[in-house]
Amino acid sequence: MPSISLKNCRNIDDLRALARRRLPGPIFHYIDGAAEDETTYQRNTSAFEDCDLVPNVLGGVADIDMSVEVMGCKLDMPLFCSPTALQRLFHHDGERAVGRAAEKFGTLFGVSSLATVSLAEIGEMVSTPKMFQFYFHKDPGLNTALLERAKEAKFDILTLTVDTIVGGKRERDLVTGFTTPPRLTPASLFSFAAHPRWTFDFVSHPNFELIELKDYVKEGSNVAISVGDYFSTMLDQSMDWSDAEDLREKWSGKFCLKGVMSVEDARRAADMGCDAIMVSNHGGRQLDGSRTPFDQLTEIVDAVGDRMEVILDGGVRRGSHVLKALAAGATAVSGGRMYLYALAAAGQAGVEHALGVLRAEIERDMKLMGVTKISRLNRNMLRWRR
Ligand SMILES: Cc1cc2nc3c(=O)[nH]c(=O)nc-3n(C[C@H](O)[C@H](O)[C@H](O)COP(=O)(O)O)c2cc1C
Repeated sequence: MPSISLKNCRNIDDLRALARRRLPGPIFHYIDGAAEDETTYQRNTSAFEDCDLVPNVLGGVADIDMSVEVMGCKLDMPLFCSPTALQRLFHHDGERAVGRAAEKFGTLFGVSSLATVSLAEIGEMVSTPKMFQFYFHKDPGLNTALLERAKEAKFDILTLTVDTIVGGKRERDLVTGFTTPPRLTPASLFSFAAHPRWTFDFVSHPNFELIELKDYVKEGSNVAISVGDYFSTMLDQSMDWSDAEDLREKWSGKFCLKGVMSVEDARRAADMGCDAIMVSNHGGRQLDGSRTPFDQLTEIVDAVGDRMEVILDGGVRRGSHVLKALAAGATAVSGGRMYLYALAAAGQAGVEHALGVLRAEIERDMKLMGVTKISRLNRNMLRWRR
């Protein structure tokens, strides 16, 4: 492949290639990898190919409005950044870069419990709508502290992730020995040495830590641990619906469950008063062999779409994927790797590039579909091949 730079990245695949070049292998594979045989991960994107868009013409499409409302927040585009862990490992600006880029594009951005920039700093810095992603820990003191800090930092939405009750078996991480913080092993040494720019950036921007957790757990900040082991040992495996309801009660703002995949659970989420669910399998990083968000979307929308918002999360690499999910009934669409490759490739400029590429694709495809507003997309414009 000819030399690739941010300027000539045409799509998310190009940004992935650039990220691969810039990152030491263990870190690239932590982002890029998924559980076991990665069949669910692959299917998350290929599911969109089983469904075709049927365009209408002569729609007078000079002016396009792609804004949507998600949990009371007006977004200038129907795609937002899902919460992801450890961002300062991918680029030293981490969440600062993603937050600023999301703000520029007028969209929502999610901040993980495993964030590497404090909620307080993000709250001050970014005026765009913000979602705090909550991991339910064994330590009740830590859970209370997370909730309080998200409130103090004026986050708009609390999202409880429900699909990480144990860590997925991420075999690429087992091969590379990936941990947070990164640990030099004989296997990774060569890779870190071969990426001196990343290594210099990491070493010259110290204080890599899981800032909201470090007062409660050493693992992840001072003691190296794999993310899978973190989930399996630190999160509360007895978490159930009453814990979710309890959390919902304690949070005064909008509340969302992330990782709902069945109609039964979606109904229960609506019954307990969730404002939205994110239909998600954690980017294929948890239960390999499970169904994909796009495959599962229509039955969930049909069951609960009139009671709460349904967000499709994962697998999105193209504007046309976004339009298919919206036409199937999603309120909005979110993704992780689509902006993480870009963050790793070039920090804030990279994330802006990714969002810019996807926004341009959404706009072009809306015009080609003959729709001027997101609300005009509907299931008549979709045909499934099988
Ligand atoms: C590197 C990485 C870290 C992630 N960290 C979190 C996290 O801390 N909390 C969470 O709820 N989801 C996390 N996710 C899942 C994303 O929020 C999202 O569900 C997933 O990336 C969607 O799939 P996609 O990458 O194909 O868009 C992570 C995903 C990736 C790739």
